Amino acid sequence: MHIRVLGSAAGGGFPQWNCHCENCLGVKQGTIEAKPRTQSSIAVSSNGKDWVLINASPDIRAQILGNDVLAAQDGLRGTTIRGVVLIDAQLDHTSGLLFLREGSLLPVYCTETVRRDLTVGFPLFALLKSYCGLEHHLIDLKAGECRFTVNGAEGLSMKAIALKSKAPPYSPNRENPQVGDNIALHITDKASGKSVLYAPGLGTFEPHLEPYFASSDCVLVDGTFWLEDEMIRAGVGRKYASEMGHLYLYGEGGMIEILKNFPKPRKILIHINNTNPILNERSTARNRVSDERIEVAYDGMDIKI
Ligand code: MLT
Ligand code: MN
Ligand code: ZN
Repeated sequence: MHIRVLGSAAGGGFPQWNCHCENCLGVKQGTIEAKPRTQSSIAVSSNGKDWVLINASPDIRAQILGNDVLAAQDGLRGTTIRGVVLIDAQLDHTSGLLFLREGSLLPVYCTETVRRDLTVGFPLFALLKSYCGLEHHLIDLKAGECRFTVNGAEGLSMKAIALKSKAPPYSPNRENPQVGDNIALHITDKASGKSVLYAPGLGTFEPHLEPYFASSDCVLVDGTFWLEDEMIRAGVGRKYASEMGHLYLYGEGGMIEILKNFPKPRKILIHINNTNPILNERSTARNRVSDERIEVAYDGMDIKI
């Protein structure tokens, strides 16, 4: 299976346009060792030719132009993207659909709650009818999980797993969570049997995730915040990580501690907020992560499993 990290940052990207936090200023001025990053999305493929986009970031245009595996080699116009799977309705994961409007009818795979948010609060489905049009494929989470394949990329078996995280701020579900607001994706290459777990928004480590952490060959998981009160400490916000549906990395019950229990998989942090000290490659936080053999995703990262 081929996994291409298109965007490894959380909403806002790195640096964020209006932010002068230590990291954003440091990367802009070149005073820290850190890579700029675009907003959250990956592409996966079993054959290297037919790709599934997982989330559509507002940086999608640059991401496609920067990753030539996503450019079709034949025909006057076209793409190797066979469909888009959405793991939630957050703006950093969905607003990129607007910038695919020059293409043909776009197959979008998402849950009913996400479809509703993208019909009412952020009416992409209605709006794009006047452009390329979206073709909705339902991820039906009635049993808490749902297996599906993306047409044209049948080499990958997808399994959506319901998660506790957060619906977007514009959603009526923000403070009234519904099954389907957030999912993790367990993607298996049918030919090789190798699998990856992709969960950039993980509010808490729920027991039903354990088998996936244990059996996957690679986990690409929520690396948004180093600390629960990181935004507050940095003076850039008032929200705690948990209020935003993200589990902090460092400390008791944090993601680093959880990942210690799983020796097998390749462990990669993704969806990293611009305030997170792990972005600074010379920081203590980054060393702590590396000491645990945990990798930090970067744009263009090519993962073959
Ligand atoms: C989040 O995951 O909480 C987002 O990155 C927020 C956003 O997109 O603004
Ligand atoms: Mn996000
Ligand atoms: Zn910043």
